[in-house]
Amino acid sequence: MARRKVKKTTKKSKRRKEKVRAKKIKPVAKEEIKRELKISAIEEGTVIDHIPTDATFKVVEILDLENHNGVVSIATNLQSKKIGKKGIIKVGGKSLTQNEVNKIAIVAPDATVNLIKNYNVKEKIKVKTPDVIDNVVKCSNPVCITNNEQVLTKFYVVKKDPLKIRCHYCERSMGKEDIEII
Ligand code: CTP
Ligand code: ZN
Repeated sequence: MARRKVKKTTKKSKRRKEKVRAKKIKPVAKEEIKRELKISAIEEGTVIDHIPTDATFKVVEILDLENHNGVVSIATNLQSKKIGKKGIIKVGGKSLTQNEVNKIAIVAPDATVNLIKNYNVKEKIKVKTPDVIDNVVKCSNPVCITNNEQVLTKFYVVKKDPLKIRCHYCERSMGKEDIEII
């Protein structure tokens, strides 16, 4: 009897020791991971938020961020209550032209463009899919005049979500997956 008691106490105290150790380490590690997933605020520039995850790098391409000299932070596969998974791009020292905003709308119809000045959101633009898309998308039809002569592309938006567009010249219909930005 006495032996059993001794054994039990030893096991319990061993377990207690382990628990205490785990408690000390776990919460700190979790906090650190959370902080690392957030991207720092920017002082001046533009934040493009609520980008569908699979369009994040298309927006990078549209804005030619590979050649931007300021700070560029890109995050993708972030959790979003509104659109499931989202991407976010922060560009220091850049404001967007209307043409750039229109291009973004084609690949990211739910995106929000935030203009940042002195660390504050000065303007929040909800992008809007245009009815006509001029000289932004390449026609997927190889024999289309726009692919063979000096003619700028023009598409009509047939459906906004999911996007469906029709070429003004050859009438080829294209979906989101066929879209190649010029
Ligand atoms: N942001 C930033 N730098 C700043 C200010 C804002 O990077 N100096 C970013 C925020 O992290 C956020 C976006 O800009 O991703 C928009 O900021 P804000 O309007 O404050 O956030 P929300 O209210 O969450 O925006 P929304 O309602 O559009 O989701
Ligand atoms: Zn065409």
